[in-house]
Amino acid sequence: MSQNLESERFELDSDLLRCPGCGQRLEATAESMQCQGCDQVYPVDDGIPLLFLPNEWDGTKRDVTEEVKAFYEETPFPSYDDFDSVASLQQKAQQGLFARLLDEQVPTGTRIIECGCGTGQLSNFLSIANRDVYATDMCLNSLRLGQAFARQQQLSRVRFVQQNLFRPAFEPESFDLVISNGVLHHTADPKLAFERIATLVRPGGYILVGLYHRYGRLITDFRRTLFKLSGDRFRFLDPNLRRVESSHAKKRAWFADQYKHPHESKHTIGETLSWLEEIGFSFVKSLPPSKPLATFRENERLFEPSEPGSAIERLVVELGMIPQGSREGGFFIVIGKKPS
Ligand SMILES: C[S@@+](CC[C@H](N)C(=O)[O-])C[C@H]1O[C@@H](n2cnc3c(N)ncnc32)[C@H](O)[C@@H]1O
Repeated sequence: MSQNLESERFELDSDLLRCPGCGQRLEATAESMQCQGCDQVYPVDDGIPLLFLPNEWDGTKRDVTEEVKAFYEETPFPSYDDFDSVASLQQKAQQGLFARLLDEQVPTGTRIIECGCGTGQLSNFLSIANRDVYATDMCLNSLRLGQAFARQQQLSRVRFVQQNLFRPAFEPESFDLVISNGVLHHTADPKLAFERIATLVRPGGYILVGLYHRYGRLITDFRRTLFKLSGDRFRFLDPNLRRVESSHAKKRAWFADQYKHPHESKHTIGETLSWLEEIGFSFVKSLPPSKPLATFRENERLFEPSEPGSAIERLVVELGMIPQGSREGGFFIVIGKKPS
């Protein structure tokens, strides 16, 4: 990427970027960013602003941020295959219903932030169709991989920024869509993390979170115990580790993420409903749908409101996640909307 394009990018960034310490604007150069309020200087590493600040919680609250950061610096997730390109990223996304629907239904020009983008595969993919995507994570090695891919494939509308999602480094209420997929359950306080990233949603915008499910995760929990007791034998019990088409690096990253992670928590759709309610957002949709017999269709309208169902209805749906979780890691997704 040319130096010119890189500096244009900094100008774009500095409009939206804020000091994670005091919230003031940042003055950008190619090497650093300086806060206009508190004068703090943040380095820029090969085009990636390093705006990560640690949490400042009182000693009574356990923090796992540094532990989890160290884990991902060692094993960035998800791994790219050597042959990955725009075409293969698109092909993979077409195979996964959710990414395909997002691509079909999130308009060109939408401003998106991904909080906990990992190596940025979803962010890179969503930027292909001319959306402005800010791919953020605390793990610099993951961001570097994502940025290398974006440069190699000349994706000019995705920007990589290092931040701690508990201390966002962006102007509040400036994104049409905030995505955090597979992230909040690796933090010490997922509800607080949710509240913090929700501050980035503009009025009328959406938040989308993917979380490990309490029941969907049961089979993975069982396998983890079995692997631990057997010295990691029986790996073939995980369908993703049996896939012949996946590279060794991909399988290694999946195994570490699923079975060796230092911290994960599990959640329910009902819990996320209360998170949404507390911050005044409305429930839009969940995957799986929160009412029994409601199916997630091939052409599901992701951003059209649906009924959250009763506690009993959700329980029936969620118990059904036990067998499904075996394959996909026991995830569920919830979309909420901020009032206009
Ligand atoms: C399982 S990976 C998910 C990556 C990506 N969203 C995906 O679905 O493939 C979790 C990511 O969350 C990031 N993460 C965890 N806690 C974070 C925090 N406090 N601030 C920023 N990123 C965080 C980790 O660095 C890691 O890259």
